[in-house]
Amino acid sequence: MQLPDFPWDSLAPFKERASAHVGGLVDLSVGTPVDPTPEVVQRALCAAADAPGYPQTWGTAPLREAVAGWFARRRGVPDLDPDGVLPTVGSKELVAWLPTLLGLGAGDVVAFPEVAYPTYDVGARIAGASPLPMRSLTGLGPLTTAGTPKLLWVNSPSNPTGQVLGVEHLKKLVDWAREHGVVVASDECYAELDWREGAGPGSVPSILDPRVTGGSHEGLLAVYSLSKQSNLAGYRAAFVAGDVTLVRALLEVRKHAGMIVPWPVQQAVLAALTDDEHVAAQKERYRLRRDRLRAALEGFGLRVDHSEAGLYLWSTRGQDCWETVAALADRGILVAPGSFYGSAGAQHVRVALTATDERIDAAVARLG
Ligand SMILES: Cc1ncc(COP(=O)(O)O)c(C=O)c1O
Repeated sequence: MQLPDFPWDSLAPFKERASAHVGGLVDLSVGTPVDPTPEVVQRALCAAADAPGYPQTWGTAPLREAVAGWFARRRGVPDLDPDGVLPTVGSKELVAWLPTLLGLGAGDVVAFPEVAYPTYDVGARIAGASPLPMRSLTGLGPLTTAGTPKLLWVNSPSNPTGQVLGVEHLKKLVDWAREHGVVVASDECYAELDWREGAGPGSVPSILDPRVTGGSHEGLLAVYSLSKQSNLAGYRAAFVAGDVTLVRALLEVRKHAGMIVPWPVQQAVLAALTDDEHVAAQKERYRLRRDRLRAALEGFGLRVDHSEAGLYLWSTRGQDCWETVAALADRGILVAPGSFYGSAGAQHVRVALTATDERIDAAVARLG
């Protein structure tokens, strides 16, 4: 199996450079939450600490119903069948293993956006399938049976660009995928972090939205994570939902393979999904950081593209990303080079909002 080099190692010299700043490092290179896990979720985890028996791979019925209820309340998806829900150990493992779990292998193509979270590519490679970064459906060219992807990844809001795909765009993708027998998996882990005027439930459309699906979830999977919305990255808490037949197929393999979400985490997910207050509070924290940081980056001569949702400012100075990484490292600020997300990102850097207010203030002061 040919896995890509782990790119973060190449950032180490810049981390060292940035750490030499008298005010210390401001690390905006990774999207790892830094604010406390909400009390309501911690309490649920602790209350479930006594767990001598094996939990269900499928999760309990109340957990699956809570996911369906969350889709109805927060995502504009009123018709998710709780049978089409499966908890996962964070979403990265699902992204990395989905092609394998779907039975894909040599000769199969897995397509994903040309600027994207690297694990879509990794997942194709783990399965022995062929990774295919693509700009758009037309970028696939005339389809031959062999060249048609078996699986198409969508990521809206995007990591790293923050771009949101609208209903029309998603509908076109789904119509095309159904016509060609392609499974669409939609990674929606930043859906609660929509910064646009009038944002609210459903403003970032899910792939399962009836305006997109025409009322059937056939061939469609939505992937969601609690890591970002609820500061739960350390719990490894996520789920996949949609087509009941596909979810059952995933469940079958995962049961055999022991890919089970621990019981206390299942209970924590249930608590997190039924409390909207902490999600709103966390979003406000990020909003304030984002506003300050964005103005400071623009003042420093960067242009912020897309970034209408999610946890990143996708920024460029119209130069090679490593030059921008270096310029910011000289101010003690570490960011991720856009080239980590595909060669089309080579003139951008990804600036994360996941730092404390104190560190964001330090970054703003240094950029001023
Ligand atoms: C687009 C995208 N998908 C999936 C993940 C994985 O999140 P987790 O494994 O914490 O659920 C991330 C994390 O940064 C991400 O950006």
